[in-house]
Amino acid sequence: PARVVVLASGTGSLLQSLVDATVTENYPARIVAVGVDRDCDAARRADEAGIPHFRIGLRDYADRAEWDVALTDAASTFEPDLVVTAGFMKILGGRFLDAFAGRIVNTHPALLPSFPGAHAVRDALDHGVKLTGSTVHLVDSGVDTGPILAQEAVPVLDDDDEAALHERIKTVERRLLVDVIAAMATTGVTSDGRKAQIIR
Ligand code: GAR
Repeated sequence: PARVVVLASGTGSLLQSLVDATVTENYPARIVAVGVDRDCDAARRADEAGIPHFRIGLRDYADRAEWDVALTDAASTFEPDLVVTAGFMKILGGRFLDAFAGRIVNTHPALLPSFPGAHAVRDALDHGVKLTGSTVHLVDSGVDTGPILAQEAVPVLDDDDEAALHERIKTVERRLLVDVIAAMATTGVTSDGRKAQIIR
Protein backbone atom coordinates (compact mmCIF):
# COMPACT_ATOMS: atom_id res chain seq x y z
CA PRO A 1 0.00 0.00 0.00
CA ALA A 2 1.02 3.59 -0.61
CA ARG A 3 2.52 5.36 2.40
CA VAL A 4 0.58 8.48 3.36
CA VAL A 5 1.53 11.24 5.81
CA VAL A 6 -1.46 13.37 6.81
CA LEU A 7 -1.02 16.95 8.06
CA ALA A 8 -3.83 18.44 10.14
CA SER A 9 -4.53 21.31 12.55
CA GLY A 10 -8.10 20.83 13.68
CA THR A 11 -10.74 18.34 14.67
CA GLY A 12 -9.33 15.84 12.21
CA SER A 13 -12.61 14.47 10.89
CA LEU A 14 -11.10 14.21 7.41
CA LEU A 15 -8.14 12.39 8.91
CA GLN A 16 -10.60 10.07 10.63
CA SER A 17 -12.32 9.23 7.36
CA LEU A 18 -8.94 8.24 5.91
CA VAL A 19 -8.05 6.25 9.02
CA ASP A 20 -11.35 4.39 8.77
CA ALA A 21 -10.80 3.69 5.07
CA THR A 22 -7.21 2.55 5.43
CA VAL A 23 -8.06 -0.10 8.00
CA THR A 24 -10.58 -1.70 5.65
CA GLU A 25 -9.43 -4.60 3.56
CA ASN A 26 -8.00 -3.79 0.14
CA TYR A 27 -7.67 -0.04 0.64
CA PRO A 28 -4.49 0.73 -1.33
CA ALA A 29 -2.97 3.22 1.11
CA ARG A 30 -2.10 3.40 4.77
CA ILE A 31 -1.33 6.33 7.03
CA VAL A 32 2.23 6.04 8.31
CA ALA A 33 2.21 9.26 10.35
CA VAL A 34 0.18 12.34 11.22
CA GLY A 35 1.82 15.76 11.49
CA VAL A 36 0.23 18.65 13.38
CA ASP A 37 1.30 22.24 14.02
CA ARG A 38 -0.55 22.57 17.34
CA ASP A 39 -2.27 20.52 20.00
CA CYS A 40 -5.49 19.42 18.36
CA ASP A 41 -7.99 16.62 18.12
CA ALA A 42 -6.27 15.32 15.00
CA ALA A 43 -3.25 14.36 17.14
CA ARG A 44 -5.55 12.62 19.62
CA ARG A 45 -7.21 10.68 16.78
CA ALA A 46 -3.79 9.57 15.54
CA ASP A 47 -2.91 8.32 19.03
CA GLU A 48 -6.20 6.45 19.28
CA ALA A 49 -5.58 4.81 15.91
CA GLY A 50 -2.06 3.80 16.93
CA ILE A 51 -0.51 6.05 14.27
CA PRO A 52 2.62 8.01 15.24
CA HIS A 53 2.24 11.77 15.22
CA PHE A 54 4.72 14.63 15.24
CA ARG A 55 4.06 18.21 16.28
CA ILE A 56 5.96 20.95 14.49
CA GLY A 57 4.63 24.28 15.72
CA LEU A 58 5.56 27.46 13.90
CA ARG A 59 6.16 29.30 17.20
CA ASP A 60 8.76 26.75 18.25
CA TYR A 61 11.10 27.86 15.44
CA ALA A 62 13.01 31.07 14.82
CA ASP A 63 11.30 31.69 11.50
CA ARG A 64 9.22 30.10 8.79
CA ALA A 65 12.27 28.77 6.97
CA GLU A 66 13.40 26.80 10.02
CA TRP A 67 9.87 25.55 10.59
CA ASP A 68 9.71 24.46 6.95
CA VAL A 69 12.95 22.47 7.33
CA ALA A 70 11.72 20.81 10.52
CA LEU A 71 8.37 19.88 9.00
CA THR A 72 10.05 18.52 5.87
CA ASP A 73 12.51 16.47 7.91
CA ALA A 74 9.78 15.09 10.17
CA ALA A 75 7.59 14.02 7.24
CA SER A 76 10.56 12.64 5.27
CA THR A 77 11.41 10.28 8.12
CA PHE A 78 8.26 8.35 7.25
CA GLU A 79 9.11 8.14 3.52
CA PRO A 80 5.65 9.01 2.27
CA ASP A 81 4.47 8.34 -1.26
CA LEU A 82 1.72 10.90 -0.71
CA VAL A 83 1.16 13.77 1.69
CA VAL A 84 -2.41 14.85 2.48
CA THR A 85 -3.19 18.22 4.03
CA ALA A 86 -6.52 17.61 5.74
CA GLY A 87 -7.43 20.85 7.46
CA PHE A 88 -3.79 21.89 7.88
CA MET A 89 -4.11 25.63 8.41
CA LYS A 90 -0.55 26.66 7.50
CA ILE A 91 0.94 27.50 4.12
CA LEU A 92 3.61 24.93 3.28
CA GLY A 93 7.14 26.19 2.68
CA GLY A 94 9.28 25.87 -0.42
CA ARG A 95 11.42 23.09 0.95
CA PHE A 96 8.41 20.96 1.80
CA LEU A 97 6.91 21.58 -1.65
CA ASP A 98 10.18 20.60 -3.34
CA ALA A 99 10.57 17.45 -1.26
CA PHE A 100 7.10 16.15 -2.15
CA ALA A 101 6.42 17.92 -5.46
CA GLY A 102 3.34 16.60 -7.22
CA ARG A 103 2.54 14.29 -4.32
CA ILE A 104 0.78 16.67 -1.93
CA VAL A 105 -3.01 16.55 -1.94
CA ASN A 106 -5.20 19.19 -0.28
CA THR A 107 -8.90 19.29 0.35
CA HIS A 108 -10.60 22.67 0.32
CA PRO A 109 -14.18 23.46 1.40
CA ALA A 110 -15.24 25.43 -1.70
CA LEU A 111 -15.34 25.07 -5.46
CA LEU A 112 -11.94 26.49 -6.39
CA PRO A 113 -10.93 28.87 -7.85
CA SER A 114 -13.77 30.49 -5.89
CA PHE A 115 -13.09 31.25 -2.23
CA PRO A 116 -9.48 30.20 -1.64
CA GLY A 117 -7.89 30.77 1.76
CA ALA A 118 -8.66 30.02 5.36
CA HIS A 119 -12.31 31.16 5.48
CA ALA A 120 -13.78 29.51 2.41
CA VAL A 121 -17.13 28.58 3.95
CA ARG A 122 -17.73 32.02 5.52
CA ASP A 123 -16.64 33.77 2.32
CA ALA A 124 -19.05 31.68 0.21
CA LEU A 125 -21.91 32.45 2.63
CA ASP A 126 -21.07 36.16 2.67
CA HIS A 127 -21.03 36.20 -1.12
CA GLY A 128 -24.50 34.68 -1.22
CA VAL A 129 -23.68 31.82 -3.58
CA LYS A 130 -26.35 29.14 -3.87
CA LEU A 131 -23.88 26.41 -4.67
CA THR A 132 -20.48 25.72 -3.19
CA GLY A 133 -18.69 22.44 -2.60
CA SER A 134 -15.51 20.52 -2.11
CA THR A 135 -12.29 20.54 -4.11
CA VAL A 136 -9.46 18.02 -3.86
CA HIS A 137 -6.35 19.31 -5.58
CA LEU A 138 -2.60 19.03 -5.84
CA VAL A 139 -0.70 21.61 -3.85
CA ASP A 140 1.59 24.05 -5.64
CA SER A 141 3.30 27.18 -4.36
CA GLY A 142 0.14 29.30 -4.44
CA VAL A 143 -2.70 29.35 -1.93
CA ASP A 144 -5.25 26.78 -3.10
CA THR A 145 -4.16 27.20 -6.73
CA GLY A 146 -2.85 23.75 -7.67
CA PRO A 147 -4.28 21.44 -10.35
CA ILE A 148 -7.77 20.19 -9.47
CA LEU A 149 -8.24 16.44 -9.07
CA ALA A 150 -11.89 16.21 -8.06
CA GLN A 151 -14.80 18.47 -7.22
CA GLU A 152 -18.32 18.03 -6.02
CA ALA A 153 -21.03 20.62 -5.56
CA VAL A 154 -22.93 21.18 -2.32
CA PRO A 155 -26.07 23.39 -2.12
CA VAL A 156 -26.24 26.39 0.21
CA LEU A 157 -29.58 26.38 2.05
CA ASP A 158 -31.46 29.54 3.03
CA ASP A 159 -31.03 29.10 6.76
CA ASP A 160 -27.41 27.92 6.68
CA ASP A 161 -24.89 29.31 9.10
CA GLU A 162 -21.16 28.66 8.70
CA ALA A 163 -21.18 25.54 10.88
CA ALA A 164 -24.16 23.91 9.16
CA LEU A 165 -22.82 24.58 5.68
CA HIS A 166 -19.32 23.46 6.63
CA GLU A 167 -20.63 20.19 8.00
CA ARG A 168 -22.60 19.51 4.78
CA ILE A 169 -19.42 20.19 2.78
CA LYS A 170 -17.29 18.00 5.04
CA THR A 171 -19.61 15.05 4.49
CA VAL A 172 -18.71 15.29 0.81
CA GLU A 173 -15.02 16.06 1.43
CA ARG A 174 -14.53 12.91 3.47
CA ARG A 175 -15.84 10.67 0.70
CA LEU A 176 -14.04 12.55 -2.09
CA LEU A 177 -10.69 12.47 -0.27
CA VAL A 178 -10.88 8.74 0.43
CA ASP A 179 -11.75 8.14 -3.21
CA VAL A 180 -8.98 10.35 -4.65
CA ILE A 181 -6.28 8.88 -2.40
CA ALA A 182 -7.31 5.37 -3.38
CA ALA A 183 -7.14 6.27 -7.06
CA MET A 184 -3.79 8.02 -6.70
CA ALA A 185 -2.37 5.11 -4.73
CA THR A 186 -3.36 2.61 -7.39
CA THR A 187 -3.10 4.44 -10.68
CA GLY A 188 -1.64 7.90 -10.09
CA VAL A 189 -2.28 11.19 -11.83
CA THR A 190 -1.25 12.74 -15.09
CA SER A 191 -1.01 16.45 -15.63
CA ASP A 192 -0.86 18.58 -18.69
CA GLY A 193 -0.17 22.15 -17.72
CA ARG A 194 -2.88 23.14 -15.28
CA LYS A 195 -5.02 20.13 -16.00
CA ALA A 196 -4.58 17.15 -13.76
CA GLN A 197 -6.38 13.90 -14.15
CA ILE A 198 -6.60 10.83 -12.02
CA ILE A 199 -5.86 7.75 -14.08
CA ARG A 200 -8.88 5.50 -13.61
C1 GAR B 1 -12.06 20.85 6.09
O1 GAR B 1 -13.28 21.40 5.70
C2 GAR B 1 -10.96 21.27 5.14
O2 GAR B 1 -11.34 21.33 3.81
C3 GAR B 1 -10.65 22.62 5.68
O3 GAR B 1 -10.63 22.45 7.07
C4 GAR B 1 -11.58 21.45 7.41
C5 GAR B 1 -10.93 20.43 8.31
O4 GAR B 1 -11.88 19.63 8.93
N1 GAR B 1 -9.41 23.12 5.18
C6 GAR B 1 -9.19 24.40 4.91
O5 GAR B 1 -10.01 25.26 5.08
C7 GAR B 1 -7.80 24.68 4.41
N2 GAR B 1 -7.73 26.02 3.88
P1 GAR B 1 -11.46 18.57 10.03
O6 GAR B 1 -10.51 19.23 11.00
O7 GAR B 1 -12.76 18.15 10.66
O8 GAR B 1 -10.79 17.42 9.30
